[in-house]
Amino acid sequence: MGRTVLSGLFGLLKKKTAQAGRPDMSRLPRHIAIILDGNGRWAKQRGLPRRSGHAVGADTFRTVATYCRDLGVQYLTVYAFSTENWKRPAQEVDAIMKLLGDFLDEAARDVDKNRVFVHVMGDLSVLSDELREKIRRTEEITSRYAGSQVNICVNYGGRHEICQAVEQFMRTYPDHDGPVSEEDLASCLYTAGMPDPDLLIRPGGEFRLSNFLIWQTAYTEFYFTDVLWPDFTERDLDAAILAYQKRDRRFGEVK
Ligand code: IPE
Ligand code: IPE
Ligand code: MG
Repeated sequence: MGRTVLSGLFGLLKKKTAQAGRPDMSRLPRHIAIILDGNGRWAKQRGLPRRSGHAVGADTFRTVATYCRDLGVQYLTVYAFSTENWKRPAQEVDAIMKLLGDFLDEAARDVDKNRVFVHVMGDLSVLSDELREKIRRTEEITSRYAGSQVNICVNYGGRHEICQAVEQFMRTYPDHDGPVSEEDLASCLYTAGMPDPDLLIRPGGEFRLSNFLIWQTAYTEFYFTDVLWPDFTERDLDAAILAYQKRDRRFGEVK
């Protein structure tokens, strides 16, 4: 009898765990943002140069982007290089830009295999002509798959984005007088026309935004994990989505 109860309980537990393992596909976040952090520490732990961490991190990004596409997540926005990351050694910056260039070439070449629109957001004016041309070409070629969009934030800073939005607004409406609405400003952000992120994931153990999407994350659900980005797997994404699906999003209402 005791044994039956125990095995019944065990069966129930197993069932619950199995159910808890995969996200509810009917309530997926439409837009996921990820701060790709922890590459340097991952490399250091292995006695490797930091650029190796970035290289493995780039592969993790490929895996996660494909998984998001397969799940049906409409927008994935990743933070790859911030306006503050120029403070790093030139060698490391060059390695990151090289990885980005390689990724863009690959995305353009494998467009019909990947089936995602690759878009780059940030102040691109200071990037090399070569890299800017790769960005232009890849965006053009991949735009046919606009239903599944990956935004890569490069030389991106949330505060800079807001400043350039104000400048753009003033240029577009030089005679504007009176209040500026949230919609007016949002229409001048890099993310114009996109929904705000539902879920923001930061691997790497830090609890901060580091100037990422500071306008757009006003009502985003945050998920932090100690897993370093190069170690991040599809199961870690499942865990983040499951945590998100347990949240009660009230948006200021009483529910
Ligand atoms: C994130 O990994 C990648 C970039 C900022 C470009 P880090 O290089 O910041 O890795 P940690 O935080 O030093 O481990
Ligand atoms: C945030 O990571 C920027 C990117 C992942 C591109 P950082 O490693 O630069 O952030 P901090 O310096 O720890 O805040
Ligand atoms: Mg870091």
